[in-house]
Amino acid sequence: MKIQIINGPNLNLLGKRETSIYGSQSFEDFLETLKKRFPDVELHYYQSNVEGELVNKLHETGFSFDGIILNAGAYTHTSVALHDAIGGIKTPVIEVHISNVYAREEFRHKSLITSKCAGMMTGFGMEGYALALTYLIHRKSETTQ
Ligand code: DQA
Repeated sequence: MKIQIINGPNLNLLGKRETSIYGSQSFEDFLETLKKRFPDVELHYYQSNVEGELVNKLHETGFSFDGIILNAGAYTHTSVALHDAIGGIKTPVIEVHISNVYAREEFRHKSLITSKCAGMMTGFGMEGYALALTYLIHRKSETTQ
């Protein structure tokens, strides 16, 4: 089973950035623990601060992978291009946010991508990625029965 994790802008700074909101763990360290917890899953990781590169990665993986876990960062709230890219691919996409976006500024309450995603996780910290992965494994077992 092949899963692509995509992190958008500023998420390369996890562990250093606003640690009271996002925690003190780097994504690379978290990814190592995730790989150990899910040894049977082929986990791919990509991060970019550039909107078009996120669109390209969705196109590249969106017809062959079993699932995509996407934290689009601030582009969540602005990007029609990501909305359209998710709508144009076959692979199910789960939207993840580390913080609870609904408990924060009002501009974070609106997501342009949720309507094209299979579901969304917000406010569970890094564990949201693991919960999304658990769902994608469950979904794959349901569809291959
Ligand atoms: C975020 C929430 C977004 O509003 C913000 O712009 C981010 C991170 C989160 O993971 O909580 O960069 O997606």
